[in-house]
Amino acid sequence: MNTIDYLRISVIDRCNFRCSYCMPEDVSLSYLPPQAVLSDRELLFLVQEVFLPLGINKFRITGGEPLLRHRIVDLIRAIAQLPKVGDLSLTTNGYFLSELATPLYQAGLRRLNISLDSLDPQIFAQITGRDRWQQVWQGILAAYEVGFSPLKLNVVVMPHVNEHEVLDLAALTLNRPWHVRFIEFMPIGNTARFESEGWVTSADLRTKLRDRFGLSEGQCLGNGPADVFQIPGALGTVGFISQMSECFCDRCNRLRLSADGWLRPCLLNESGQVNLRDALRQGTDATALQQIVRDLITAKTPINFKERDRGTQSTYSRTMSQIGG
Ligand code: GTP
Ligand code: 5AD
Ligand code: SF4
Repeated sequence: MNTIDYLRISVIDRCNFRCSYCMPEDVSLSYLPPQAVLSDRELLFLVQEVFLPLGINKFRITGGEPLLRHRIVDLIRAIAQLPKVGDLSLTTNGYFLSELATPLYQAGLRRLNISLDSLDPQIFAQITGRDRWQQVWQGILAAYEVGFSPLKLNVVVMPHVNEHEVLDLAALTLNRPWHVRFIEFMPIGNTARFESEGWVTSADLRTKLRDRFGLSEGQCLGNGPADVFQIPGALGTVGFISQMSECFCDRCNRLRLSADGWLRPCLLNESGQVNLRDALRQGTDATALQQIVRDLITAKTPINFKERDRGTQSTYSRTMSQIGG
């Protein structure tokens, strides 16, 4: 059994983008009513009294788009100030960073992962459903200037859409200490697209990058599944997140908490998930909540895409925006 010390906390299920691989425009999602969402107080209680005492001390804040949550900077500050928090990071689409990079940094956040699927504003708009490349790029620059480090850029590689941009995207790492990660498209959120267009393997991308630039082993601070390489002489790194072709479930170190309090043992499998919000609201004390989490960790088993049909029927009933990536 791996040590489970990383929790991805989704703080909101809403998003202001409609990425075609995640929550495409034509798929209607119903959003959680406000009272269903864990409050700041509830979240802080769970972090401080339940997860930290169990040694889960690395936290990633996700969404939907987490920066849409009301008073997110205050929540980040409160988590960052908790003793024993080992690592705190946030995954965002970058839209609000021009405005929020400085307050987030001042609140104690040091690490950001930002989606950037294209360097071409038109392709960006095609992928995200929003004509906002400029705003996101300004947000990335703002985050860099404020001092976020490591600064990671996430690229979901879509066949025939942004596949041809991987060399240009990788070249972003040459002159700045940015960490570009290529993510294999997963059949969550837009399975129809996945089935019609397929996905691009990390191995293919690595070959392309090696042929063009050369590649050596690299290193970048993180708790996730990326395999990290470096273009010789580059200031940053390139990473590959290869959940479709190279299952990494055997090194899984994490749990996920959805905005409405479901604690999930796995991105891909809903069996075994428990609702901590209901337990908390029914008055369950911290010791009993810790036991619920311990039991879930004990029951956690690896699953991969090849085995996904063996999961529960509801495996894909939530999108990445609802699970938190
Ligand atoms: P750090 O390495 O700590 O920076 O975190 P990370 O790479 O896990 O964070 P990020 O939110 O940027 O995750 C990038 C992507 O990796 C996610 O959107 C998913 O596509 C993928 N991913 C992360 N964790 C898992 C996992 O447990 N299973 C699968 N299949 N994919 C995951
Ligand atoms: N496949 C791979 N990655 C996805 N993400 C969202 N949907 C998918 C998918 N179907 C990733 C985004 C972002 C994170 C929040 O989730 O790229 O980095
Ligand atoms: Fe929103 Fe992120 Fe999903 Fe894009 S990937 S729709 S930015 S939650």
